[in-house]
Formats: sequence, C-alpha cells, structure tokens
Amino acid sequence: MSDKPCKVIVGCSGSVDFAKRIAAQTKCRFIPLDTKKFPDGELNLRFTSDIKGKKVYLVQSFYDPNDKLIEVFFAAKTAKELGARGVFIIAPYLCYMRQDKRFRPYEAISSRVMAAIMNRLADGIITVDPHLHRYKSLDEIFTIRTKTLTADDLIADYIKDNIKSPIIIGPDMESYQWARTVAEKIGCEVDVLKKKRYTSEHVAIKIKKRLDLGGKSVVLIDDIISTGHTMMEVVKDVKRLGAKRIYCICVHALFVENSYEKLRKMGAEVVSCNTIPHKSNGIDVSGLISREI
Ligand code: R5P
Repeated sequence: MSDKPCKVIVGCSGSVDFAKRIAAQTKCRFIPLDTKKFPDGELNLRFTSDIKGKKVYLVQSFYDPNDKLIEVFFAAKTAKELGARGVFIIAPYLCYMRQDKRFRPYEAISSRVMAAIMNRLADGIITVDPHLHRYKSLDEIFTIRTKTLTADDLIADYIKDNIKSPIIIGPDMESYQWARTVAEKIGCEVDVLKKKRYTSEHVAIKIKKRLDLGGKSVVLIDDIISTGHTMMEVVKDVKRLGAKRIYCICVHALFVENSYEKLRKMGAEVVSCNTIPHKSNGIDVSGLISREI
C-alpha cells in the first residue's frame, strides 16, 4: 500500500476498526493509540510513532462518551505538542448534541461545553448526522472547521436494495429531516408522528392521522436509537395498524438497556449505520468520511 506521508489516521479506543477502514480506503498510515488506565483511573496515553509535521486524524466515536472525550482531548493536545501540522477529530458519532438548551434552571448546555473544549484543542471536526435540532448547523457551537456528512443516500440505497414497497415513518418531528429526505430519494410515501418525551424512559407517540398500513412494510427511521422507547412506541402502533413487516433503521446505534433485543423481540428488523460498532450495523459509512480526507 502506498503511503500518503503527510496524513496519519489514529485509531482511538471507540473506533479502532473504523479507523483501520479509513486508513485502507485513503491509503494513509494507521497509527494505534496506546492507552492504559492507572489503578486510580487516570489515563496514560501515547502515540505509537512520530507525528511531527503530519496531519493527524483522530478517529473516535463518542458513544459511552466521557472517557472517550478525555482520550481525544489528551491526544489532540499531545499531537500539537509533538509538532503535528494539523489535528482533526473524526467523530462518526458526536455525543452531547441532544443537550442543546438549558432544559432546567442552572443546567449545563453540554453540547456547548464539549464544543468549547474541542475548539481549543483541534483544527477541525468531521462527523456524520450530528443531532441538529435547536442548532441549525455545527458552526453555532464550533469555531474550528466543521464538516457534517449524512448517511441519507446510503440508507436510501439500503432500503431500495432490501425492502419491497416501503412506507417510511419518522417517529417525531426531529426525525422528519431523515425520513423525508430518504423517502424522496426512494420515491415512496412518508409520514411523521408527534412525540412527547416526559423522561428518558417515558415517551408518548401520537399517530396524526389514521394510516392504512395493512400488509405494508413499514420503515421507521431516526438518527439515534438509545433506550429504544421512541421506536418501541411506534412499533406497537404500526403493528396495531396492520403493518406486515417493520424495520427500524437508525444512523447511531447506542442501544442502551437492551433496547436492540427488545425491538427484535417485538418483531422488528433493526439496521444501523456503523458510526457506532454494534451487531445491527448493516450500512457502512466509512467511505463518506474517507472522501473528506
Ligand atoms: C431525539 O430526538 C432523537 O432523534 C431520538 O429520537 C432519540 O434520541 C431516541 O431516543 P430513545 O431511543 O431513548 O427513545
């Protein structure tokens, strides 16, 4: 493999395989990051080769995020100290983006805190389908270069190749951006539901109009599946309305609290993009990122 000498792809703990894929696709050198924890929990980190004068791409998916953030903060600062020509964070999944306002008095707006620290340490960030709800663009919180990629085309291709006569449903208004765009690309029907979230565990979904789903393949699309309560509520409803097959497709497979298994038990097929490593990964987004390097 020919090396692009000035660029190196660094595999951080959340994305080693993903980083290797990017390195192979871009023909850049892959460098593992050597990390260990001291008995008191402190992180020890070192680059495994010289990065002086290189553009350093730190690949880290920020699921289960706090340790992974610290790792990237340490790696970015250290890379600069070691003479890197530029430090770029590749975040297939960017954390804390749902905390985009002060929901309760005196609360941290965590997305701003996360971005403020990255702004100090890196030169740019590349990410896939960040949760942009109250922010219209990453540039509202980042001052470094940002590149926002979307898996829309890849999700549309997956549906075209694997699901016959789909009807697409977005479980809430925020998911409309994905559901509508994907439906337009496929040329199929789309509907969006209304969601009210009381707590992270308690979600109510309203089907706006009487949908005729008799015998249809219903594809629910959202950016994130976390506790799965959003999807589970809709799965119940579309089953009641006669859906023949139900697919839950997401970009970011957080799947906490066994939500993947719960959805499967309800009879849904579950497919995700590989921004977060998970057994549901069926759509590879690494090529999207490689094209930006
Ligand atoms: C929030 O608006 C997101 O788009 C998802 O709908 C949400 O994060 C899903 O969370 P959960 O799986 O916990 O219901």
